[in-house]
Amino acid sequence: MLTKVHTGLDAVPGVWWKPAHRAEKMWVAIAFAWCMVLFAMMPLWHWRGGQNPSGIRRKVEPRAFYARTVEFTKQYQVGEDRGFPIVQPPAGSDVYLTALTYQWYPILQLVQGEKYRLHISALDVNHGFSLYPLNVNFQIIPGYDYALEVTPTASGDFRIICNEFCGIGHHTMVGRVIVLDQRGERVSDNANARLTNAPGGTTGAQP
Ligand code: CUA
Repeated sequence: MLTKVHTGLDAVPGVWWKPAHRAEKMWVAIAFAWCMVLFAMMPLWHWRGGQNPSGIRRKVEPRAFYARTVEFTKQYQVGEDRGFPIVQPPAGSDVYLTALTYQWYPILQLVQGEKYRLHISALDVNHGFSLYPLNVNFQIIPGYDYALEVTPTASGDFRIICNEFCGIGHHTMVGRVIVLDQRGERVSDNANARLTNAPGGTTGAQP
């Protein structure tokens, strides 16, 4: 004769579970309340956080964007670093930066306190734009021109690190942004850049 097994189709009779302990209920309540706080932070941070990028986004043909970057580079090249062009665009202009495996093209030279519209896009695959030592991170997606209104608030010699795994040479994908001081001179270290790495405003990227 078969013994009856509980399959889940028949409810087990009676109270078979132990009632939750008071401490457990309390922790669930605390966790839930904290979830609500974090949930509320999302819209709050959107409006008050000051870390939102500008909303200028356009679809673009990756090759066309790269061609534009090359044209821009030819127009404003002022020097080079190990074969890589250093480009100094005029203040207030449109600046182009292309991420491609495994480089950031070209090297940008900007001036502290001046406004630029920085266009970033990728030629081939997803890359991550991370400006070191500042806390700035963006996904760079091929086919999208991500334009940021940027005013460098500190002079120095910055590195762009790719923070999205993009292939075998990902770890070598390091770019460079030079920010001249207000007199238009190069500063050798970016010590003052670290000081501005405070909540609510790191690069001066304005929404
Ligand atoms: Cu580009 Cu990782």
